[in-house]
Amino acid sequence: MNKVSNAGVAVRNEQSPGDFYPTPAEATEAVLRHVSIPEGDVWEPAAGRGHITDVLRRHGHHVIETDLYADVHGRGEKQDFLTIDTLPSGVSTIITNPPFNLLSNFIVHGLAFNPELLILHAPLPSLGSTGRGKIFNQRPPSVLIISNKLRIDTPNGIVRSIFNHLWYIWDRRNPVPKISWTEAK
Ligand SMILES: C[S@@+](CC[C@H](N)C(=O)[O-])C[C@H]1O[C@@H](n2cnc3c(N)ncnc32)[C@H](O)[C@@H]1O
Repeated sequence: MNKVSNAGVAVRNEQSPGDFYPTPAEATEAVLRHVSIPEGDVWEPAAGRGHITDVLRRHGHHVIETDLYADVHGRGEKQDFLTIDTLPSGVSTIITNPPFNLLSNFIVHGLAFNPELLILHAPLPSLGSTGRGKIFNQRPPSVLIISNKLRIDTPNGIVRSIFNHLWYIWDRRNPVPKISWTEAK
């Protein structure tokens, strides 16, 4: 059965455990141009097949990968982010592209770790939601909107997303929220 994934592309359910779809490298490059990663390790807690972590490593960052379906995707350690209650030692930054149906849970759980930097990739329509509105009012993120539509690598080939995407950024060094736009090319 087909569904529209959080990437805004049609994918087959059985081919995307955990709502897997890869973050295009240019989206990660765009956020790395916008925000500096503080000293310390970076944790990708829904690492999938390593599309974000490969870019981070190319930039010289030390990255820890975990994923609920690590056994399927073949990267990192198999762990449910939402049941982990201690920030791994040495980690200053959490970055991921969570499954859309768990986005609010990932926001609340990620903020509870109080990392120096929390960065989450999501579709633009995720800004509008009653539940998330309450969370955002309490902990307003900076938002980096990717103004061009991303090309997503799906099991059916590379497809341009229906939605635009953004990065939510909670940066303890810059707590005043700001909205910015960039192109991911
Ligand atoms: C949209 S994909 C993104 C994959 C990778 N972060 C990337 O950007 O390419 C979402 C990922 O979340 C993982 N996932 C789903 N539920 C999870 C959970 N509760 N804890 C950790 N990972 C989870 C899936 O296995 C999948 O790899």
